[in-house]
Amino acid sequence: MKKIYLTTPIYYVNDLPHIGHAYTSVICDSIARYYKLHGLGVNFTTGTDEHGLKVEQAARKNKKSPKDFVDDVSLNFLELTKKLQLSNNDFIRTTEKRHHLAASHFWKNLEQNDHIYLDKYSGWYSVKDEAYYQEKELIKNKNGDFVTIDGGAVDWVEEESYFFKLSKWQEKLLNYYEKNKNFVYPESRFNEVKSFVRSGLKDLSISRTSFSWGIKVPDTNHVMYVWVDALVNYLTSLGYPDFEKQKEYWQNSYHIIGKDILKFHAVYWPALLLANNINLPKQIIAHGWWTNEGKKISKSMGNTIDPNEMIDKYGLDQFRYFLIREIPLGNDGDFSKEAFLNRINSDLSNNLGNLIQRVMKFIYKNYDNRLPSKIDSTLDGYNLIKDGYELLPLIDRKIEHFEISKCLEEIFIYIDKLNKFVDTNEPWKVFKVEKEKAGNGLSILIETFRIVGILLQPFIPIFSTNLLDLLNVDKNEREFKFLNIENLLKKDHIFNKPEALFPRYEK
Ligand code: MSP
Repeated sequence: MKKIYLTTPIYYVNDLPHIGHAYTSVICDSIARYYKLHGLGVNFTTGTDEHGLKVEQAARKNKKSPKDFVDDVSLNFLELTKKLQLSNNDFIRTTEKRHHLAASHFWKNLEQNDHIYLDKYSGWYSVKDEAYYQEKELIKNKNGDFVTIDGGAVDWVEEESYFFKLSKWQEKLLNYYEKNKNFVYPESRFNEVKSFVRSGLKDLSISRTSFSWGIKVPDTNHVMYVWVDALVNYLTSLGYPDFEKQKEYWQNSYHIIGKDILKFHAVYWPALLLANNINLPKQIIAHGWWTNEGKKISKSMGNTIDPNEMIDKYGLDQFRYFLIREIPLGNDGDFSKEAFLNRINSDLSNNLGNLIQRVMKFIYKNYDNRLPSKIDSTLDGYNLIKDGYELLPLIDRKIEHFEISKCLEEIFIYIDKLNKFVDTNEPWKVFKVEKEKAGNGLSILIETFRIVGILLQPFIPIFSTNLLDLLNVDKNEREFKFLNIENLLKKDHIFNKPEALFPRYEK
């Protein structure tokens, strides 16, 4: 069985979950569900990043010990995975013992292979980004202080530190990028990575002594730089250092992340892995950022979007659908209430929900809730069914290129065609004069609904399950391999009682 490993970033527990976390997770979940439906062995992990100065400071602010604080906040993220109905099979916390063991082992290997040396770090550090900055990467604010380009504060740090010899990997990384043209998606971001590396890599400070909330560097008073600790989570989840059995997952691994953390994943992580003789992940996929009604989302502006609130108010499928449909993966996008309501009302309530409800109610009333005709290629409109089967290979290609928004676009173009079929064939009118002919058209539609229900499962799982339940499709016959003529529902197949699938929301 072919295997695939998909990861979200592990989320900082300094604060509550917001739309950014939900976005990365929903993308990853849709891809994971997609490959599961193709029968692949899917390993999908998410979790929380619990060490570092940012988290230590947040704990202090909340008057809690770091451990108590992270235990509490991590729970919010665990709950969000449930609320989003993620299909992850692991939730990793960096404060877990298995992770301490993995990170320490990873460190020792670097040390043994002479990739680490002790020196003194003096330079700028952003606690918000948990990142070091060179002066040339900073700008001055109106008070004349150095800040990051998005205005974040930086502190001058001088302390003893272990360094990873990152500089010696510059050429090797560039060669790797050259040979692996799809290593980073999208291409524009890959180009940024390449020019960052070309502009020169400095050795990386990978330990701190001025605070203690982190994984101890073996036999020292240092703690590991939180990014080194955090990146290793992707291996911890596979059982590293003892991950031979899980190697097939690692060979086919995909890190889905936001554009802001690309440098860590596409430069530092590959160099660290190469240094420890571990293959690199197959691909790093960087998505864009959401704004809220055109404005940058930030806690200080008080305009964060709470995924829990959105789900409670509008429903999970609606929220998931908007996130993945509205913007192509890789682009930035705006979360406006108007765009959200338009999207869910027009696509989900009108085009999809109404169509199914009208047809199913009619069959319930007039055909004893059974499939009216035997479906075969002699029926008028059979082409619609063929088009439906042909959607799968089309969507396969889109998913391979991470065009999830396009997948939904294709499925909804198809749903438009189904609506047109209903409008031109008017089964309710034909029924009055030719019951059998009307039944034939309705039976064609039923098969297209089975197709739509199966195809939409990765993206809007609740709706799809309800639809397939309504059609009374066997629970064991919902994978993609059942999308063909051999698995058509038989004449007189009995449906379940139709119920509303999507409510409409007022503006
Ligand atoms: N802990 C690190 C990741 C370590 S992975 C080894 C981290 N955590 S985070 O909680 O700050 O961010 C997690 C994700 O949320 C990132 O992928 C980031 O891009 C995403 N987002 C945060 N705000 C966002 C938006 N406004 N829009 C879309 N995604 C954004 O970074």
